[in-house]
Amino acid sequence: MNICVIGTGYVGLVTGACFADFGVNVSCVDKDEAKIDLLKKGEIPIYEPGLKEIVEGNVKEGRLEFTTDLGASIRKSLVIFIAVGTPPREDGTADLTYVEEVSRTIAKELNGYKVIVTKSTVPVGTGNLIEKIIGRHQPDGHKFDVVSNPEFLREGSAIGDFMRPNRVVIGARSEQAVAIMKDLYSPLYLIETPFVITNIETSELIKYASNAFLATKISFINEIANICELVGADVHMVAKGMGLDNRIGPKFLHPGPGYGGSCLPKDTSAATRIARQHGYTFKIVEAVIEVNERQHGLMAEKVKRLLGGQLKGKTIGALGLTFKPNTDDIRDSPAIAVIRILKGEGASVKVYDPAGMENTKRLMPDELTYCGDAYEAAQGSDALVILTEWNQFRKLDLERVKSLLNAPKVADLRNVYDPARMRAMGFEYVSVGR
Ligand code: UDX
Repeated sequence: MNICVIGTGYVGLVTGACFADFGVNVSCVDKDEAKIDLLKKGEIPIYEPGLKEIVEGNVKEGRLEFTTDLGASIRKSLVIFIAVGTPPREDGTADLTYVEEVSRTIAKELNGYKVIVTKSTVPVGTGNLIEKIIGRHQPDGHKFDVVSNPEFLREGSAIGDFMRPNRVVIGARSEQAVAIMKDLYSPLYLIETPFVITNIETSELIKYASNAFLATKISFINEIANICELVGADVHMVAKGMGLDNRIGPKFLHPGPGYGGSCLPKDTSAATRIARQHGYTFKIVEAVIEVNERQHGLMAEKVKRLLGGQLKGKTIGALGLTFKPNTDDIRDSPAIAVIRILKGEGASVKVYDPAGMENTKRLMPDELTYCGDAYEAAQGSDALVILTEWNQFRKLDLERVKSLLNAPKVADLRNVYDPARMRAMGFEYVSVGR
């Protein structure tokens, strides 16, 4: 089977490479020539463990190609995945310009029956919109089907998530389209992956509902952590006690400075807009977003208290810039949000991150001091703040850290260390909800 994947961003590239690995012939298309040139040379423009090897292997075996020729790729493909960006507009709604543009091109190039699949997270109703655009613009009356097949890929474990997913969701109107999609995913039958087959709108909403629920779990546990601090409870034991209930589950109950990244903030915001556009207030998720934003301020307050109530003139060593470990992604990173507040109140911030430095330098070239490692960030600082739980920050030489700091103060905003041990070592130590 020949398929094409339009858009070589995060979702498109992982999808294209993994389908090629399933044995399908894949054209990955992008209008960005520089990016396609890079990919043709075997370079991967994003940070994703395992992706380079899969791309290399499948290019070598002739199943994966990169091209800017959208027309040719559409014409030879039975299935066309749309994985172009849907960036948030000012008001939080998703900008569908690229989806619309691509749909018009697909319409013009249609030379027989094809299945057009949305892979990027798109507002409920986008499948319908694509159907209308293609129906209106195609010259020859060919049959086609539109399918919603949302991705549930986590950055840093996207390959595993694609190859061994918890479920595959397919939203379609025709049995023919469902059969073709099932055929594409047939390698997953061996590992008995559940398939959820439904209509397009339901499938589109499953994606938003899933991410909104994950965000809800995080904001929920962050509020519990804040309450723990007030009443003298331990949030990890609360999470454990809750999570052992099968109906609740133990995952996504780790407190911290809030959720970030390319999906949860964007999708929660879009979910509330979609509801509002239909005259409904999605109260829970509106509160989830508010709690997440408040958490940044509360974390900065925590650091300020540790520094005696004054940030002006203080130097802070900050470990972690990315929104989570094992990525170079700083989009909507709570680490950056907290650092901005600390800076805003007059602190100087020395930062270190194993993978997020380049992206942060581009965003904030002059405001921060960029360090070569964690110890350089600690050196001469009035406190050390842990903002992202990279493994290398879990095993710091704490005696060395203590000797480098101006004062032995640590704000561990990801609860990486054991409070009793830190205090026994002579640190003035604060964490979240313990
Ligand atoms: C997420 C979803 O998990 C994925 O299914 C979806 O397709 C895209 O969005 P990702 O953005 O890669 O994936 O990150 P994820 O690992 O889910 O973490 C999101 C954020 O939540 C991070 O900032 C993380 O630090 C935070 N988080 C996660 C917590 O603060 N506590 C937790 O218990 C879990």
